[in-house]
Amino acid sequence: MNYKRILLKLSGESLMGDKNFGIDNTRLSDYATQIKEITDSGIEVAIVIGGGNIFRGVQAEEGGMDRTHGDYMGMLATMINAMALQAALESKGVDSRLQSAIEMREIAEPYVRRKAVRHLEKGRVVIFGAGTGNPFFTTDSAASLRAIEINADVILKGTRVDGIYTADPEKDPTATKYKAISFDEVYAKGLNVMDMTAFTLCKENSLPIIVFNMDEKGNLKRLLNGEEVGTIVS
Ligand code: GTP
Repeated sequence: MNYKRILLKLSGESLMGDKNFGIDNTRLSDYATQIKEITDSGIEVAIVIGGGNIFRGVQAEEGGMDRTHGDYMGMLATMINAMALQAALESKGVDSRLQSAIEMREIAEPYVRRKAVRHLEKGRVVIFGAGTGNPFFTTDSAASLRAIEINADVILKGTRVDGIYTADPEKDPTATKYKAISFDEVYAKGLNVMDMTAFTLCKENSLPIIVFNMDEKGNLKRLLNGEEVGTIVS
């Protein structure tokens, strides 16, 4: 595999590290280091980050709040993570630009596809904040959409587990990991890789997804060096 431009999807929840809420500075710094390792080797990197460590739209609905209202709050949560990540990247000397799907000009550029592509060509990491800017879409959907828009070669979905398993490895000790799996098999087996909207967008546009453990230091670089890391869906 020879990926030139990637879209990295980071989980907001993973940013919590061992904390119960918010951002763990060690985890944040580790993510920034891992990203620097790959930009240093010339790979173009775009990032979408979730917001679940701060706020989840679903949780708002459970509390009686309108779903759309909760989803917008979730989009703002992703901006907090995106700003934290941008600061962490810059502290390590990684040039970056933050674009938001919801206009907030004082803190981020508005999302402009062509501008994002130029930034990538100039070697800057581009972080896409505020999801797709629409309620009812997850940040996985934002990752799929942006990856397709910028012609990324692959989506790298960073998670706490090291790939896709036959069953939930945290519940079933007999579960085994797939090295590779097809889109159709994921549908047929009902495996949970991304929500269906995000997943279908990838399938329809033949965009491969690699699920891997981002919390293990150096994994991102190993993956892009062609080592056997994670599970590829294609
Ligand atoms: P080039 O056009 O390649 O030179 O890119 P550039 O991003 O360096 O130039 P630009 O003048 O567009 O941006 C300079 C700085 O301002 C960068 O840090 C941008 O992220 C930031 N910036 C640009 N547009 C906006 C905006 O609408 N809002 C905010 N908050 N920052 C912006």
